[in-house]
Amino acid sequence: MTNVAIIGTQWGDEGKGKVVDLLSDRAELIVRFQGGNNAGHTLVVGDQTFALHTVPSGVLRPGKISVIASGVVVDPEDLLLEIRALNERGARISPATLKISDKAHMILPYHRLLDSAREKDSAGQLLGTTGRGIGPTYEDKAARIGLRLGDLRSEEVLRARLTLALREKNCLFQNLYGVPTLKVEDLLKRAQPWRSELVPYLTDTADLIQKAQAAGRHILFEGAQGVQLDLDHGTYPYVTSSNPTTGAVAVGTGLAPRELENVLGLVKAYTSRVGEGPFPTELGDETGEFIRQRGQEFGTTTGRPRRCGWLDAVVVRSAVRLCGVERLAVTKLDVLSGLKELKIACHYELDGQLLDQVPADFRDLARCRPVYETVPGFSEDIQRARKLADLPAAAQTYLRLVEKLVGRPTALVSVGPERSETIVSHEYF
Ligand code: IMP
Repeated sequence: MTNVAIIGTQWGDEGKGKVVDLLSDRAELIVRFQGGNNAGHTLVVGDQTFALHTVPSGVLRPGKISVIASGVVVDPEDLLLEIRALNERGARISPATLKISDKAHMILPYHRLLDSAREKDSAGQLLGTTGRGIGPTYEDKAARIGLRLGDLRSEEVLRARLTLALREKNCLFQNLYGVPTLKVEDLLKRAQPWRSELVPYLTDTADLIQKAQAAGRHILFEGAQGVQLDLDHGTYPYVTSSNPTTGAVAVGTGLAPRELENVLGLVKAYTSRVGEGPFPTELGDETGEFIRQRGQEFGTTTGRPRRCGWLDAVVVRSAVRLCGVERLAVTKLDVLSGLKELKIACHYELDGQLLDQVPADFRDLARCRPVYETVPGFSEDIQRARKLADLPAAAQTYLRLVEKLVGRPTALVSVGPERSETIVSHEYF
């Protein structure tokens, strides 16, 4: 077995960072394949907490190669700040350990400006984005007016591409959103440090990954966000602008689809969502607040309180089908300790019909009523459990119910934020 993709099966924030960090112990390459700095992964190593946004979560392991592949969108300014901040805390990131695709698109100041102008536009559509410019950057990529990191190599190319992109953007800023326009020369000046500092990291990452795969090296593909935020398969339009589903591993890295060997689906023991959009198992009561506080469910990227609710097996089952998930990693089980009873949605009810799939239209999903299975809760502190048998009987019953409703076995259970606070029942590498 040489590679594993880590996929979020819900609305993101499933605790992928910790699991990637854990598995990267035995992986040689750790690869981000989609999304951008809208992602936020919190890692706890010893007494230090690290919040990562663009850099893969394996970067804290010495001797590993971290890869930002072509499917990722990169904010050069933000990435340089992240690298500097991590290095100040002893991470030792350098072009030898971090490889960035020269085909990855750049998030530029006008993308962030457009993202926030749209969110503030009262006549527009409020999505609750992270405001990082992710959507506008992927739009420009598809419209073929984007700038790739490789364009940093030539000032002439940069000037020509920025001039083209700003024609339309400035028209929108001036005439639709009433915000100040941007100048090509100012952006070129701002890009100077990106050019000198980031170009040494750029390389053909598809070639690197293909060769690593051919040599049988262990590769970890680190997803960002979750399946219900997928541009095609999520709760459109309340989604992100990339594909967090498994198919994006191939497209976003250049690895042939048939070469992907394992898909580990990350399932938080409950559900959270940040931003707008339907969420059938949301709890607007004190149980939701209990979960939010105990789980520290506040956005790593924006600090927003996350909406919290019961685990939704309909959502996770759809991720299993869409992504070919063959094992589950159940995270943050410890957060549920202290609740008298626990519920998992096994179906939805809509207009008198039972559904076992997420409906395509978000308006229908908003009308779905979850049908729950209820089991007794547990109150013990489970952070010291290192095997399934260490867990209280009620926690074991809960896990078995998850496996039954989702139809997949558990490979790993996280019982606390630390690397060591994990029950591993299946080794990948
Ligand atoms: P965008 O990705 O910033 O365009 O935001 C679109 C939607 O995806 C919003 O609801 C965001 O809150 C959500 N989103 C984006 N990235 C993440 C993430 O890493 N975790 C959870 N939600 C996210």
